[in-house]
Amino acid sequence: MSIKKIAVLTSGGDAPGMNAAIRAVARTGISKGLEVFGVYRGYNGLIHGDIFPMNLRSVSDIIHRGGTMLYTARSPEFCTEEGMQKAIKTCRENGIDGVVVIGGDGSFRGAQDLTKRGMPCIGIPGTIDNDISCCEYTIGYDTAMNTCMEMVDKLRDTAQSHDRCSVVEVMGRNAGYLALNVGIAVGATSVLVPEVPYDFERDIVSRMKTTSSTGKKHFIIVVAEGVGGVMDIADRIQEGTGIESRATILGHVQRGGSPTVRDRVLASEMGHKAVELLMDGKSNRVVATQNDQIVDFDIEAALRMKKPFNFELYNMAHQISI
Ligand code: F6P
Repeated sequence: MSIKKIAVLTSGGDAPGMNAAIRAVARTGISKGLEVFGVYRGYNGLIHGDIFPMNLRSVSDIIHRGGTMLYTARSPEFCTEEGMQKAIKTCRENGIDGVVVIGGDGSFRGAQDLTKRGMPCIGIPGTIDNDISCCEYTIGYDTAMNTCMEMVDKLRDTAQSHDRCSVVEVMGRNAGYLALNVGIAVGATSVLVPEVPYDFERDIVSRMKTTSSTGKKHFIIVVAEGVGGVMDIADRIQEGTGIESRATILGHVQRGGSPTVRDRVLASEMGHKAVELLMDGKSNRVVATQNDQIVDFDIEAALRMKKPFNFELYNMAHQISI
């Protein structure tokens, strides 16, 4: 069956570069003669028929914008059979033959559920956490890393001026990729990630004391959200080292902002690839990067993969931060 109409949606947490991916899907589809629908607010839009036909100009002036012009949501209703059937019904009523889903793991499970019920879907990884196992770089990750770096650079100015320790929480509920790379980029004394257990005395207090003895007077500790407790960590550092400490949670500022070149190019390539896959009759695939190449995997296989944490990089980060 040849594909004539496709839909695109964004789901889960937003990520800078999602707009560039939407643009690439719409422009590739339309230039190849397809009709393209935009779906508002993730799977909720499919359930409630909140969709609109896109034209070439629907995606003008968005490539440089953070967030997602389609809005996004996590949809508990879609997790029910009734919700999924409603989503399928909307697709059928509008003659949609395929859906591009931009989001994270949870969104891909939804894409798999739709595919199983007869609606071909292709996933595009969009998350600042970079926690999609089959994909080396997800859309939004590069922008978020750069945003965090800029924010922590600002914190460093004030930490340096007061001879303080700045304890900073970056996002990543289950993954420390963002924390590790930001930690290296800002020269953090310690990086705490959910993947590696830590010992407070050995990995923080004693490291700080050692570097203090060589003349270092201000410190940055980067903590992934999944480790948490930055207020408590800052208090304990002050107690254990005598160095005045302040905690900062960067929060949702990390998810916003204009996407970097890398995210815009990656998102454009991925959006383009997703439409090509649908037109080639493929479904239940997720677009990914491996060795800087755009590739694709079966969603089920992709969801089973485990992304190895880079312990070498983690150890290096701590070796060069003394
Ligand atoms: O999945 C991306 C992410 O930014 C996580 O790092 C974070 O824990 C979560 O989303 C926050 O989600 P919400 O915007 O729903 O609070």
